Amino acid sequence: MTWVIVPAAGRGARFGGEVPKQYLQVGGRSVLAHTLAALTVHAGVAGVVLVTGAQDAPAAAAAELALAMHGKPLLRTPGGATRADSVFAGLAGLPDTVRADDFVLVHDAARPNLAHADLDALLERGRADPVGAILAAPVRDTLKRAGDDGGIDGTEPRERLWRALTPQLFRRLQLARALEAAAAAGVDVTDEAMAMERQGARPLLVEGADDNFKITTPADLARFEFVLAQRHR
Ligand code: C5P
Repeated sequence: MTWVIVPAAGRGARFGGEVPKQYLQVGGRSVLAHTLAALTVHAGVAGVVLVTGAQDAPAAAAAELALAMHGKPLLRTPGGATRADSVFAGLAGLPDTVRADDFVLVHDAARPNLAHADLDALLERGRADPVGAILAAPVRDTLKRAGDDGGIDGTEPRERLWRALTPQLFRRLQLARALEAAAAAGVDVTDEAMAMERQGARPLLVEGADDNFKITTPADLARFEFVLAQRHR
C-alpha cells in the first residue's frame, strides 16, 4: 500500500479569482474532492497527506474531503512557498509506518481526471524500477522556438519529448534528499522527477492518458465539467 502526497498550497495565480482553483466546485464537489476520490478508490493507495496553504480550505471543505477518501486516512500539513517546499513538507508529514525506502506518490491537487488504469500502470512499473517513475504523455504538437521579437527562430524535434504529468512515484528518503539538494542549490524544480534527475537518477516514463490534465485556466475547468457530464450519462 502506497501513501500519496497531494500538494494543494498553490494560490492558482494564473487562474485568477478569490478561491484557489482546487476548491472550485464542479459537479457538486470541489476539484480537490474529485482528485482525492480518484486516488483513494485505488486499492493500492493507503492514505493521503494533504499539503494546504495558510488561509486555504473553506470550513465546509473538511467534511466534503473526508467523504471523498473511501474510508482511508487524510492527514494535513502546512505547505511552503514553492511546490517543491510543499512536497518536502508533505514528506515530513507522512506517518512513521512509511519507511525510508518505501515508494510514495505525489499528485497535483488540481489534476482530478486521473484514470484508475494509469495509476495501476504507474504503481506496477514504477515499483519495479530502482528509481521510480512518472506518468507522462508524448508531445503531439510541433514545437517552435520563439525569438525576442515573437518570430520563429526554429522548429524543435519532438520525437523524444514528453509532457510530465502526475502522479510521480519515488522512494521517501531519496525524494526528500533530492528536494533538499535542489533547494540548497537554489534550483526551483517544477516536478519531483526534475529533483531526482539533478541527482543523476533516471526515472522511468510511463505513458498515461492525455486527458489527465491540470486545471490551470477557466477553460480547463469547463473541460472537466464536460468530462464529468459524459461520465455520468
Ligand atoms: O502552480 P502549479 O499549478 O504548478 O501547482 C501544482 C500543484 O502544486 C498544485 O496542486 C498546487 O496547489 C501545488 N502547490 C503547492 N505549494 C506551492 C505551489 C503549488 O502545494 N507553494
